[in-house]
Amino acid sequence: MIEFRHVTFAYDSAHPVLEDISFQIEEGESVGLIGANGAGKSTVMKLILGLLFPQSGEVLVNGIPVSKDTLADVRRTCGFVLQNSDNQMFMPTVKEDLLFGPVNYGLSREEAEAKADAVLEQLQIEDLKERYNHRLSGGEKRMAAIAAVLAMEPKAVLMDEPTSALDPYNRRQIIGVIKEMPVTRVITSHDLDMILDTCSRVLLIGNGKIQADGSADDILRNKELLESSRLELPLCLQR
Ligand SMILES: Nc1ncnc2c1ncn2[C@@H]1O[C@H](COP(=O)(O)OP(=O)(O)OP(=O)(O)O)[C@@H](O)[C@H]1O
Ligand SMILES: [Mg+2]
Repeated sequence: MIEFRHVTFAYDSAHPVLEDISFQIEEGESVGLIGANGAGKSTVMKLILGLLFPQSGEVLVNGIPVSKDTLADVRRTCGFVLQNSDNQMFMPTVKEDLLFGPVNYGLSREEAEAKADAVLEQLQIEDLKERYNHRLSGGEKRMAAIAAVLAMEPKAVLMDEPTSALDPYNRRQIIGVIKEMPVTRVITSHDLDMILDTCSRVLLIGNGKIQADGSADDILRNKELLESSRLELPLCLQR
């Protein structure tokens, strides 16, 4: 579903962020992308979405190389919640944002409304429906952005720090939703308890490379490995 082939990327050519990275994510997998601040996690997300392009190597989504010509396909395949979801909503209200994608992809307004209501109920944020996006709190915006992604029913979902602005109740809500999603998931977070709970596989990035790629259970219990990348065991494993 998502493949990196020898990808090298630098914002500034003297300091590559990613050096010759290769991995493959199969359909239906849930993969946690972890690493210290500045390791390159958000950069990987942006390369998948074609918000950035590699200096060398290739990124493929659903077998299609990500390029300017294939962006529409890629964005239809991958729903995403960026780390800074503040700027992600572009309609005035939550409801209009939820309807925009599905209507654009061919649902009738009635069908789209039913879909939007179902998603709001699933996330238990019905009270946000008529609210203005620019007046939402940080966590409310995050919940609304996640709702908009779910309403699109994409084949893959990329979430960059989905729980970072959320209170414990909404965090638990999102964890439940992520676990139930039958689609390919790539999730970055410093909330390693959430990664342990939602992901079966983990990619650990550091120093421009994949430092580890394996089962979430193995990697998230490996104290030495985590500490060598400036991370720590999930809280639930620290006692
Ligand atoms: N637009 C940019 N221009 C120049 N450098 C950038 C830009 N965006 C990110 N970087 C640098 O690239 C590196 C990787 O950044 P990235 O945002 O991918 O890290 P991250 O793993 O997502 O970190 P965090 O955990 O803090 O979200 C960092 O050193 C960062 O300073
Ligand atoms: Mg980031």
